[in-house]
Parts: sequence; C-alpha cells; structure tokens
Amino acid sequence: MNILIIGSGGREHAFGWRIKQSALTDKLFFAPGNAGTAALGTNLIINPNDFEAVKEAVLKHRVKLVVVGPEEPLVRGIVDFFKDDEGLEGVTIIGPSKMGATLEGSKDFAKQFMLKHQIPTARYLTVTAQSSEEGKAFMKDLKAPYVLKADGLAAGKGVVILEDYEEACAELDRMLGGKFGAAGNSVVIEEFLSGIELSVFVLTDGEEYFILPEAKDYKRIGEGDKGLNTGGMGAVSPVPFADEAFMRKVEEKIIVPTVHGIHKDQIDYKGFIFFGLIKVGDEPFVIEYNVRMGDPETEAVIPRLKNDLVELLMATARGDLKAHKAIVDKRTAVTLVLVSGGYPEQYQKGLAVRGLEKVDASFVFHAGTAFQSNQVVTNGGRVFALTSFGNSIEEARSVSLKNAERVQFEGRHYRKDIGFDLI
Ligand SMILES: Nc1ncnc2c1ncn2[C@@H]1O[C@H](COP(=O)(O)OP(=O)(O)O)[C@@H](O)[C@H]1O
Ligand SMILES: [Mg+2]
Repeated sequence: MNILIIGSGGREHAFGWRIKQSALTDKLFFAPGNAGTAALGTNLIINPNDFEAVKEAVLKHRVKLVVVGPEEPLVRGIVDFFKDDEGLEGVTIIGPSKMGATLEGSKDFAKQFMLKHQIPTARYLTVTAQSSEEGKAFMKDLKAPYVLKADGLAAGKGVVILEDYEEACAELDRMLGGKFGAAGNSVVIEEFLSGIELSVFVLTDGEEYFILPEAKDYKRIGEGDKGLNTGGMGAVSPVPFADEAFMRKVEEKIIVPTVHGIHKDQIDYKGFIFFGLIKVGDEPFVIEYNVRMGDPETEAVIPRLKNDLVELLMATARGDLKAHKAIVDKRTAVTLVLVSGGYPEQYQKGLAVRGLEKVDASFVFHAGTAFQSNQVVTNGGRVFALTSFGNSIEEARSVSLKNAERVQFEGRHYRKDIGFDLI
C-alpha cells in the first residue's frame, strides 16, 4: 500500500526508514519531509495543518495509510477530519481523535484524566487570571521549587520551574498575563517531584496496548544537562534503571489504567501514547502525556524495534494488537543530535553539509535538512540524529561520536555526554 508520513524531522525519517522495509509498503510519501526522507520516497510540499491539502495528496497518490508524526495536526483534529470525510473512507490514519489529543494539548485535561483514573502524578491546582490568588495560596503549601505549566501547547517552552516563592508568584502573573499567549490562559501549578525521568511508549487501539522499547532523552543544550532547553540533544534506549520490576509497575500502575481510562471515557484513540515518567524512589509517576512518538527518542527506539511497523500500525487500526509481541534488539542504541550553531536561539540555515558519505556503522536520520542545488544544506536547529548500536552506552556512544565528527557544517554542535547519568 502507499503510505504518507506527516512531519519533517528525525522521527519521521526513522519511521520512514523502518516502514520502507515492510513488504506491505509500496510507495512512500512525506509531508513535507526533509533531504533524508527524499531518499526513501517523495516529499510533498504540504503544510500538515492544511487538512484539505493533505486530503488532496492522499487521494491523488492513492495513499491507504497515514502516519502522523507531530502533535500539532493531531491536537487540531486531523484524525476526526479523516474519519468524518466520506471521500477518505478506506484510508487508515494513525493517531488519537481530537479529544484524545487533548491529553497533550491541555495539561489540565491530562491532570483531570489522571486524577479520575487514579494514575500516579504530582499534586496540582489549575488556575486562571480570576483564581490566581488561590494559586499563590496553593504554592504556599508546597515546598520549593515551584512548577508552573502553561495549559496549552507551547512548543516545549511552557514549563517554568522556580526556587523562590515570590518569583514563582510573579511568573504565575506573567503567564496568566499572556507570556505564552492563549496557551497560558490556564496554568497548572504542580508539586515538584524529585527523581530521574524516562519515556515509555505504547501503541494502543483503545483497548489493547503494545509496549515499545523505552528511552531517556536529553533536552538541555549543554553537557551535564546545563543550559537552555532544546527539542532534544540525544537519547538512549534501553534505560538501565527501567528493569523488569520497575517496568511491571509502569504497566500496572500507569499503562493499564491509562488505556482503561481512554476506553471508559469513550475516547477514540488508535495511535501512540508517550508517557513522560519520573521515577521517585522505586515508584513511577506521570509528568505528562504526549500523543505521538518523541523526537529524538524515536531515532533510538525504532532501530531497536524489529517488528514489521506497517503490520503493527494496521493492527492498531484494526484493533488487533493482542496478536503482536515486540521483537526487540537487545543492544543499546545511543542517538546524538547535531544542531546548528546558536540553537536553540538564533541560528543560520542553508549551510552546506559535508562528509555524510564518510559515516560508517551509524544510522543518519535527517531532521532540519533540505536540498539546495543538489547539495544537502541545514534547514533547522536540529539538523541530524546519529544512532549507533553497542553492547553498552559507552560503546554505542563512541560510534555515534566518531561519526558525528565526520558530518561537517559550519557551527555544528553536539553533546558528547549523552547517557552520562546512566553509566
Ligand atoms: N511535577 C514536576 N516535578 C519535577 N519536574 C517536573 C515536573 N513537571 C515537569 N517537570 C520538568 O519539566 C519538564 C517539562 O515538563 P513537561 O510536563 O514534560 O512539559 P513539556 O514537555 O510540554 O514542556 C519535564 O521533563 C521535567 O523535567
Ligand atoms: Mg515533556
């Protein structure tokens, strides 16, 4: 069948790479894709949030399966658009309905869901400009640091953590005053949880679930997890502290009640759930839900997951996930992200990339790249994700590091310490 992957990052390149290997795949399309995905299929110049344009492309290219990478089209309701459109009957789309996507699109909705279904998470209170005084009183009862979260999508920038109570109150006022636009009309105030984070992923058909390999990602620009937040500088899979006993707790206390909750609340959900977890002592808590795979976690997870991905996605759509078991490469995958100089602040685009042909024994997943007169150039903050296998984090990382040095563009930056806290 012909398959369309929506998105343009390393995640979508990794999906495409695995999907291309399926005997079920005929032609592969990306909307809009990048220089890497162009080698796997056809890039279509389409804005993923323009659902009419996506529909037109699906019909024109006889696409039968659509995989949505990023959250924005999901939160805007692309799945409902497909299900409601008679012309798109017979086209399978992977992802939650708009209501399901609200688990990511509204942090308050997600917290209410967790409370209702008794899923372990930090204590919280949601406030608006009208109830900001209650928020400050709630914070007074909490211990520092204070966690403030804009309710809506804020491109990973809407969470502020502050040590000082007075500063937290001032920040709360700024957030409610429009610092993050409408995304901050409501603010979720949370108790701070102290522990180590990891990401767990499942595919669900709304009743059954299929657990993918877990991962840990690294968001800060600088080594030792210092400096500004980014879209992600690297990932490791598996996560050594996520042993069998811990993962059993995650399944029993978090995955099962979440999938049951989705079913009970009659949420139409056939897609990925990303559990952003924190291990406090020996117990898992949910920090957040995402309704799609993570980036760069996908670039570490998908190479380890050896199942036929198209078969898995079709089983998700059919409601037939029970019949599938994960076939996982036992080795460790370490992903390094090569970013533009200046990122996550100002950076240049259109810089020539050299040395890609010298990469040996790593997967090169393109993220922010494009073609300019037949030459690969930079086209974003995160430019490449390099994934390598090894028998340990150190071994896998050293292969990625060797190859990262070979891929050259002006201003290139990457972290050399991905996985440092797991060794
Ligand atoms: N209750 C909490 N306690 C401790 N740290 C938190 C808490 N909530 C969020 N964080 C930290 O802030 C980061 C971002 O929060 P998250 O809810 O994942 O929002 P987003 O990914 O949308 O920015 C988390 O990865 C975690 O490091
Ligand atoms: Mg997060």
